[in-house]
Amino acid sequence: MVLIVGISGSKRGGSMTLTLVNDLLNACKKHGAKTERIDLAQVELPFFDNRESWEYGKEAERVSKILEKADGFVIGSPEYHGSMSGTLKNLFDLQDYERVLAGKPAAFCGVGGGRGRATNVLSHFLVVARALKMWAVPMALGTNHDDFDDAFRLRDKTLLDRADAMAKDLVKAASVLRK
Ligand SMILES: Cc1cc2nc3c(=O)[nH]c(=O)nc-3n(C[C@H](O)[C@H](O)[C@H](O)COP(=O)(O)O)c2cc1C
Repeated sequence: MVLIVGISGSKRGGSMTLTLVNDLLNACKKHGAKTERIDLAQVELPFFDNRESWEYGKEAERVSKILEKADGFVIGSPEYHGSMSGTLKNLFDLQDYERVLAGKPAAFCGVGGGRGRATNVLSHFLVVARALKMWAVPMALGTNHDDFDDAFRLRDKTLLDRADAMAKDLVKAASVLRK
C-alpha cells in the first residue's frame, strides 16, 4: 500500500486549501492509499538560509522524515500575489530534495480569491516540480471561494470528479514509481 502525504501551504485557520487537501487525501484513501498530512498552519519551520538540511532543528527534521517516507504527495497552496505561499516554498527549499522529493509523483491544487482559480499557483507548481525532479500527475485542481459550501467543502460535482480522477492517477503513479 502506498503512502500519500498531503501538504497544505496555508497558515490561516479555517483554510480552504486545507479542506481541499483533505478532500484529495480522502479520495486517495478510496483508491487504496494510506495517507498522512502536514498542515503548515500547525508547524513552525525556520526560514531556509542555505545551511545544510540537517541544521534546522527537530521540527524541520520531523517534517522531512514524513516527506521522505512518502511515495507521493498532494500539495496545495493559496494564491498569494500571483504565486504559491512563501510558507510552502520555504518547505521545499528546506529539503534535501534529491533524497526527500525527487522521483516522486505529486497532485497539485490551489485556492484563489479571484476568478482565475489559482491558475498561477498551478503553473508555478509545474516549474518548481521540474526543479525538484518530481512527477506531476496530468491534472491539477484550481478553485476559488465560490467552489466551496458554507462548511468549506468542495460542492461542485465537476471538481469533485476531477479530484477523484487525480487521486486515482496519483495512487497509480506512486505504485509504479515507488523505490
Ligand atoms: C496577501 C494576499 C494575497 C492574495 N493574492 C491573491 C492573488 O494574487 N490571486 C487570487 O486569486 N487570490 C489572492 N488572494 C486570496 C487568497 O488566495 C484566498 O483568500 C484563499 O482562499 C486563501 O487560502 P486559504 O483559504 O487556504 O487560506 C490573496 C490573499 C491574501 C491574504
